[in-house]
Amino acid sequence: MTALGKLFRTTAFKLSLAFFAIFAIGSGLVLGRVAFSVKGLLDAQIEQVIEAEVNGLQEQFVQGGVRRLIDTIDKRAREPGSSIYLVKRADGTTVVGNVGALAPGALDRAGALETFYARAGESEPHRRALTRVVFIRGGELRIVVGRDLEERERLRKVMGRALLSSLIYLALFGLAGGLFMAFRVLRRVDAMNASAQRIMAGDLAQRLPVAGSGDELDRLASNINAMIARIGELMAGMREVSDNIAHDLKTPLTRLRNHAENALRVGREEKDYRAALDRMIEEADGLIRIFNALLMIARAEAGAASAAMTRLDAGEIATSVAELYEPVAEEGRLRLDVAAGTGLFLRGNRELVSQAVANLLDNALKYGRPADQADASGEVRVTARRQGEEIVIEVADRGPGVPEQDRERVLGRFVRLEESRTAPGFGLGLSLAAAVAHLHGGRLRLDDNAPGLRVTLALPAERASADVAS
Ligand SMILES: Nc1ncnc2c1ncn2[C@@H]1O[C@H](COP(=O)(O)OP(=O)(O)OP(=O)(O)O)[C@@H](O)[C@H]1O
Ligand SMILES: [Mg+2]
Repeated sequence: MTALGKLFRTTAFKLSLAFFAIFAIGSGLVLGRVAFSVKGLLDAQIEQVIEAEVNGLQEQFVQGGVRRLIDTIDKRAREPGSSIYLVKRADGTTVVGNVGALAPGALDRAGALETFYARAGESEPHRRALTRVVFIRGGELRIVVGRDLEERERLRKVMGRALLSSLIYLALFGLAGGLFMAFRVLRRVDAMNASAQRIMAGDLAQRLPVAGSGDELDRLASNINAMIARIGELMAGMREVSDNIAHDLKTPLTRLRNHAENALRVGREEKDYRAALDRMIEEADGLIRIFNALLMIARAEAGAASAAMTRLDAGEIATSVAELYEPVAEEGRLRLDVAAGTGLFLRGNRELVSQAVANLLDNALKYGRPADQADASGEVRVTARRQGEEIVIEVADRGPGVPEQDRERVLGRFVRLEESRTAPGFGLGLSLAAAVAHLHGGRLRLDDNAPGLRVTLALPAERASADVAS
């Protein structure tokens, strides 16, 4: 498409064309109306002058008869000006007057008439005049009193010219403005298209140009830029996850392979092979657990679980998860304390919320052992309560805690602190808890329990029904 063809198809151009048409019609109407009014006004004025003159002549006629009337007309006809006078007999001969000729039929009827006339000495009636014909003595004498309309015609011409020139100016300015606007908009849209093409080609660091004027195009560009940034973030997240998966699965998979290879190489008896197979099953279970955790996080982050939201009692979840971990606590000689309120209703995905609480409890029991190994009184506290508009589930321990600068970092996938490397785990527990909090419109916070770590999972309470229940 040529540049001009593209221009004709732009909205800006079509709009400017439409505006031009509207302005042209509007100004034509206004000027036409003004011209019409002015003409009416002038005509009325001229008619008044003629009327007054006719009345004056009538007086002369009443006072002095035909003789005096003709004298007066003769005198006036000789004075310069735009007045015209003519007295004719019925047979067509002129008595007095400053008119050379009248348009045919102008003398046929008494009354007002717009007609053409010729001055004395001229023969062709080509001047416009407004006349009044008066019959005297039953039409024996016909008197014409009138005014030349040259002035009015001049005004009409001036008005016509003004209308035409204003239309031309309007067309020029309107079209120039429209073209300018269309070109400007087009240039920006072209730039946006070019950027969009580069982005589509894979350069997600590209952004659409923003002019800074804050207009619609700028807002559109900003929104699209925000969208691209978000897509970039998601892509980076995906890349990070796949990198992490590749990296973190490599070790267990290599181990799995090594167990098999070892068994084949050094295995002599059935029990060697059995032991190798047991270890391989263990590794495979670990891999399955990683996959399950990753899938759950992905599901929570994608918001796909919102479909399975039901009414949950946070107190009941905290109690049942704690019950599940009771044997682990006993084994680790840690006291597990539960303080759960009642009627703590929220809308959520039961499986995900339970898993999040289980992950927190798992961490507390795994890492929350007090530094003094002899002290067996280290306790892990699980609380569920209502706090304003939120339901809060808290898991607190008396272990080493997490240093303040690492509290944000440990929420990331596969992040484990150096001192926890000896304990089993993949670094996915807190990621899932954070993703679950986010999915439910809540948040996950890590605080100092002095000593130890206090993790708070705060989720929005169910609105109306929670009020009824409490
Ligand atoms: N209660 C806690 N006390 C001290 N450190 C903790 C505590 N909870 C978590 N951490 C630190 O945060 C890291 C991340 O925890 P997260 O639950 O995400 O992973 P993980 O427990 O290592 O593995 P996974 O939960 O996947 O089995 C842990 O490795 C540990 O270093
Ligand atoms: Mg964990």
